[in-house]
Amino acid sequence: MPQDTANGSWLGHKGPGGFDLRTDVVTTPTPSMLAAVQSCTLLDDVFQESSTTNDLESHVAALAGKEAGLFVLSGTMGNQLALRALLTQPPHGVLCDKRSHIVNYEAGGVSSLTGAMVTSILPENGIHLTLEEIQREAVVSDDLHDCPTRVISLENTLNGMIMPLSEIKRIAAWAREHGIHMHCDGARLWEAVAAGAGSLAEFCAEFDTVSLCFSKDGQEGGGAVGGLRGGFVHPVHTNMCWLDLGAAGCSAERLEALGKAEGLRLMGNRLVISYQVALNEDEVLARLERVFRAALTEAGAEEAGEAGDGAVRGSMYRRSAKE
Ligand SMILES: Cc1ncc(COP(=O)(O)O)c(C=O)c1O
Repeated sequence: MPQDTANGSWLGHKGPGGFDLRTDVVTTPTPSMLAAVQSCTLLDDVFQESSTTNDLESHVAALAGKEAGLFVLSGTMGNQLALRALLTQPPHGVLCDKRSHIVNYEAGGVSSLTGAMVTSILPENGIHLTLEEIQREAVVSDDLHDCPTRVISLENTLNGMIMPLSEIKRIAAWAREHGIHMHCDGARLWEAVAAGAGSLAEFCAEFDTVSLCFSKDGQEGGGAVGGLRGGFVHPVHTNMCWLDLGAAGCSAERLEALGKAEGLRLMGNRLVISYQVALNEDEVLARLERVFRAALTEAGAEEAGEAGDGAVRGSMYRRSAKE
């Protein structure tokens, strides 16, 4: 990542996404990134004559410990190309988490582009799939009536939650034993690495294919609403907080309106901390605190003694994987 010479660091760039907590994809390129775009080769990628593209692909492949990388224009494209490359001949099936992007937000592409039957599982622990759950659902058979599982697709992080390397290793070892391929939707794998869950190469070693996104750039956000009543619907491992609005007695629409009044863009019950939000840490936390207090007061839910010391605690700022 090029340095932002004006600020000494690319992280010094405050972009328009600084008060937008809807998603981490609203970050905008820094001046140094735009300068890098202007100085790229503009040569042909099909003939592999663009050293800019070639260097990027080999750099990311080296980071991931893979023999090759392919730059594509979206995470969806990366997932679909990887799965299509692994799935060659029906009948074949894909196993994945029920909440995963490939099932919910890729227009049914896995089925239409590969002909695979997708079996999705809701993890009992609420966080990540386990080997035992996968073994229960996988079809390991060459009976002509069956649709054998050919790929296990794991998303990490999923809803901001980390799937531990130890569980991935168990699943991958079992998959290899049974000739099943492994794909990782690692759009936010950087976040697991930044949180210290393992290195990028360690995670990627367990998969045949991995897709990684440059557009998602989070910062640690855990504990951002600590001290106020309410809580989360998922544990906060990385840069996403899922507010329990039901427990707080506040609708998503009302929270969004309260956020808007404070100049914060919110969406539903999810708060996502991008690096540009983290650059405004103190101001964002102060505004969030006012939003939460207003929401809780309106709902009559803020009770004496439960408001803590009045601070919306927690630091948003941790070094990102891409720093
Ligand atoms: C986990 C995950 N995978 C894949 C994607 C797809 O990325 P894109 O929007 O670039 O297609 C996203 C997008 O938000 C995502 O969150």
